[in-house]
Amino acid sequence: MCGIIGYVGNKSCLPFLLEGLDALEYRGYDSAGVSLAYGDGIDTVKSKGKLAVLREKLEELSPPISFCGIGHTRWATHGEPSDINSHPHVTPALTLVHNGIIENHASIARELVERGVSFISDTDTERAAYLIDLCYSECKDPVEAIFKATKMLSGSFAFGVIFKDRPECIYAVRRDSPLIVGQSENGCFLASDVPAILPHTNICCRLDEGVVAELRGDGISFFSAPYTRIEQKFEEIKWSPEQAQKGGYAHFMIKEIHEEPMALRRTLEHINRDGLPYFEGAERLLREARSIKMVACGTAMHACLIGKHMIEKLARIPVSVEIASEFRYGEQIFDGGSLTLLLSQSGETADTVAALRRAKELGIPTLAIVNVFGSTLAREADEVIYTLAGPEISVASTKAYSLQCAILSALAISLSLIRGRTDEESAKALFGSLLSDLPRLVDEVLAKEKEIVRVTDKIYSAEHLFYIGRGIDYYLALEASLKLKEISYIHSEAYPSGELKHGTISLVSDGTPIVALITDSSLVEKSLLAVHEVISRGAKVTVICTDRISREHELPECEKIILPDAPEHLLPVVTATAIQLLAYFTATKKGLDVDKPRNLAKSVTVE
Ligand code: F6R
Repeated sequence: MCGIIGYVGNKSCLPFLLEGLDALEYRGYDSAGVSLAYGDGIDTVKSKGKLAVLREKLEELSPPISFCGIGHTRWATHGEPSDINSHPHVTPALTLVHNGIIENHASIARELVERGVSFISDTDTERAAYLIDLCYSECKDPVEAIFKATKMLSGSFAFGVIFKDRPECIYAVRRDSPLIVGQSENGCFLASDVPAILPHTNICCRLDEGVVAELRGDGISFFSAPYTRIEQKFEEIKWSPEQAQKGGYAHFMIKEIHEEPMALRRTLEHINRDGLPYFEGAERLLREARSIKMVACGTAMHACLIGKHMIEKLARIPVSVEIASEFRYGEQIFDGGSLTLLLSQSGETADTVAALRRAKELGIPTLAIVNVFGSTLAREADEVIYTLAGPEISVASTKAYSLQCAILSALAISLSLIRGRTDEESAKALFGSLLSDLPRLVDEVLAKEKEIVRVTDKIYSAEHLFYIGRGIDYYLALEASLKLKEISYIHSEAYPSGELKHGTISLVSDGTPIVALITDSSLVEKSLLAVHEVISRGAKVTVICTDRISREHELPECEKIILPDAPEHLLPVVTATAIQLLAYFTATKKGLDVDKPRNLAKSVTVE
């Protein structure tokens, strides 16, 4: 998720651009840049790192005042963070900023190279910039060139463009990536999100897909293809700047949970090749893997457990899961054909990085599943697969976990095909339901907010609580319990239901709150045995189960959260959303600072 800003008007644009970039910091940052337009050309200054680095560079250069400019903060998805890969990208005719992913960048690059273009960056964005440049050289009309070029692009984009021979205008267009324009008495603004321009105007227009906006100092014109001037609706934004950063949500955590359907679509579409999951670069490692050791910390380690369940079930490859801080100093015994699979949202967790280095020292192939592009794990692992969750700001990981589970499910399907455990048709059916059903099912869980909030009444005042489950429900219980304890400060323990009777049940007494996860249809009867056992000792039970299980089994009289029915390989992600919401609403009921729980940091880069 990158941040775009643009301004054209009667004031110097640079302060507006820098202020806007500051306000977009929450969207993630690995580099930033600006382009300033003048009558005789465009100056572009960009640099890897935080905005402060760009500010320093600009102070040194002290560029002349410009009244029209665009700026960008980058969260890399193609090409590692570097000065050259930063935006804006410059071609002979234009400068361009981009948010999104161009999926057919490779074929576009091939065509452009044939026409004599040479690229200097590794980004998909530079390819798109040259494509617009080429179209512009043919028609000499910015709007037409943008229509023509964007028709050839697949993927998602929000573009801000300044043409060198039109230094008094900014052009903008978007598909599947947000972009807004706003107008004030001093000029017009372009931004990927409201907070960037809110100090100057609260009258904004969310650009419709495929509409090209032409921003000038005195107003904005809108065009739809084929080249028709149209009107767009402006609205008054009533949020405070802080509310605006959170998209109107009370906390980043709940905003990020609500981003799950979109992030799932983005991540799964990215690995979709003709209806099958394809992991570019990692295919050889996957083909050669005879056993897998998964290594991670915290929530990412819980996602590994889900992955273990899926891979063993679908591909019949033995998988062990290790906590990274244990792995790094433990005895490691590997057989030939072992693969080390490291999971991390940040890609910077010190223990996971140390585990990666240890595996490399031992000569074991390493594959990382990471959310932050160009992070240490991504750079140092033999191969990398990205979850495209966008930046996760809230300390408690939610959307990254859901995406890790989803990508591991896709990986399990791929491995089962490689190992001949399934045929192409069945693999396509399994992956197809991940692609098309999963985002919709997560949306259905998000609509159950009221049901989930009601359950928090039963648990928010508890001092101690148990999550119980069997099989994959136990793995989910571990994550449910971690999420609850880290943000609500309720002491919570996850236990395999069948293990309670071997000791822990002695802690269950009158009123002990217990949340029982029952989504695995093959283990319902066994799970219910444990539920009845704890109820008979006075526990106050809440059951989280699927609709089908609630209809086909006699459940005890108690609070319930009923999840939509889903195929087995989708259920962990569907359940994850419910347990994340339960933790979130419990903590907010206690009035706690959900996004910044005490003693915790977002990325644990020290041992
Ligand atoms: C909990 C949480 C942590 C992280 C852990 C690993 O909500 O976020 O448990 O999962 O610190 O972090 P990454 O995934 O960045 O390696």
